Amino acid sequence: MKFNDYFNEIPYLETDKLILRAFCRADIEEYLSFINLLQVQRFLGGGLSIFNEEPHISNWLNNINGRLLKSKKAFTWCIESKIDNKVIGRIDLGGFSKKSIAELSYYFSLEYWGRGFATEAVKEVTRFGFIDLKLHRIQAKVMPTNTASLVVLKKVGYLEEGLLRKCLFGKEFHDTIVMALVNEDNIKK
Ligand SMILES: CC(C)(COP(=O)(O)OP(=O)(O)OC[C@H]1O[C@@H](n2cnc3c(N)ncnc32)[C@H](O)[C@@H]1OP(=O)(O)O)[C@@H](O)C(=O)NCCC(=O)NCCS
Repeated sequence: MKFNDYFNEIPYLETDKLILRAFCRADIEEYLSFINLLQVQRFLGGGLSIFNEEPHISNWLNNINGRLLKSKKAFTWCIESKIDNKVIGRIDLGGFSKKSIAELSYYFSLEYWGRGFATEAVKEVTRFGFIDLKLHRIQAKVMPTNTASLVVLKKVGYLEEGLLRKCLFGKEFHDTIVMALVNEDNIKK
């Protein structure tokens, strides 16, 4: 499949313990139960919209499954645990540039932290990016105090490239570590 063909719908991905799939209305209650918590939002620089009522929910679903997908801007996956079929997180791959570079972000439900789920999801989306989309670089921006996120990315093989001082992070200005993984073989000639 070519790069553009992957944007017809949110790709269905599976790992040992997780299903990565499109969000639907039935997921919203479980999603909102963790995404609006301060512990989940505190490393996001106020960059994630907080919502809990119509018409925001409908707009958001239409955006991630419609407009952003059709314009090839981003994939937003709902992460479901195979163990209890609960919505436990979200992972995004977006900011595509020249069909070659993309940026990763992810958020998990507090009660599922520390069980390897983020590492598993990041590994799978990284595989999807390099093998299926044939990207050559995937990057993630992380606040220096977000140790758990830095550990996740390092475990998947991302390297720390440097610190951007007080740059735009979400809606605020923060010191930001750039983590990236590069697949030299995918660099287009
Ligand atoms: C970052 C986040 C996704 C990690 O999710 P998770 O499911 O707990 O991640 P994992 O279990 O796969 O791995 C976390 C690793 O960090 C380690 N870790 C967590 N907190 C740590 C700390 N304070 N110091 C050192 N290591 C820490 C864990 O021990 C684990 O490593 P291990 O498996 O080698 O023991 C989760 O904390 C989260 O959703 N945070 C809020 C949103 C966010 O910050 N997103 C990222 C924005 S860049």
